[in-house]
Amino acid sequence: MDRRSFLESCASGAAWAAAAQPAFGADARAHDYAPVLLVNEQGDPLQARRLKPLVNYLFHYPFEATPVFLLDLGKPALPHSLSTKDHDAYAWPGGVGPGHSVVAYSAICAHKLVYPTREVSFISFRKTRAQRGVQDNLIHCCADHSQYDPARGAEVLSGPAPQPLCAVLLTHEPRADTLTAYATLGGELFDDFFRKYEMKLSLDVGPTAHRAVAGRAVVRELEKFCRNSIQC
Ligand code: FES
Repeated sequence: MDRRSFLESCASGAAWAAAAQPAFGADARAHDYAPVLLVNEQGDPLQARRLKPLVNYLFHYPFEATPVFLLDLGKPALPHSLSTKDHDAYAWPGGVGPGHSVVAYSAICAHKLVYPTREVSFISFRKTRAQRGVQDNLIHCCADHSQYDPARGAEVLSGPAPQPLCAVLLTHEPRADTLTAYATLGGELFDDFFRKYEMKLSLDVGPTAHRAVAGRAVVRELEKFCRNSIQC
C-alpha cells in the first residue's frame, strides 16, 4: 500500500471512529505501533473478503510473541464505548472491511493472561454459546470462563476478567482489500505478559519475543497454529 492509500484509509477509519465518540469523551488513547500489513501463509497480502466468517484467525502484533485474534463477524460491528479496569473510557471504532465486520483483539485474556500457544489454546471465539444463558458468538476463556463480546469491542459479558480484551486497530485499503494493523486501544497487558511468561517465551519464541513486528504479520487459522484448541 502506498503512503497516500494508507493515509486515505486512516482518514476513513478516523471518520468512522469520530462518529463513535461517546458523549463524555474518551480518556484512553490509541497506542501507535509501526503499521504492519497482514499477509496469508504464502506471504501474499491478505484480502479481507477472503476471510471466512466466524472463524478464529491469529497473527502476532505488536510484538513477535503477542497473539491477536482476527475475526470476520459476518455483520457490521458498530462503534462502542468501553472502559479499562482503571476506569479510563475509550471509544472502540467498530469493525473495518467491506462490511465493517472485521475486528482484531489481543488474544491475551484480561484475567490471568492465558493466551494461545502452539500446543494449546484455552481462549478462542465460539460460534455457539459455551454457557447456558449467554449469547452465541463470544470469545471464551476456559481458564475461569470469562466471556468477551467481539461485536462490542470485546466487552466483558461474564466471568472474572476486569476489562475488555485490548483492541488492535486495523485500517482497510478498499482498492486492494488489504488490512493493516497500526495501533492498540484499551488496556494493554504486554508488560505483565512478558513478566509472567518470560521463561516460557524465551523457550517457545526465543530472543525475538520482545521484538516489534515489522513490515508484515502472517495470519493463520487458529486450528493451524495451535495443536489443541480447548472447547470447554
Ligand atoms: S485467565 Fe481467562 S478467565 Fe481467567
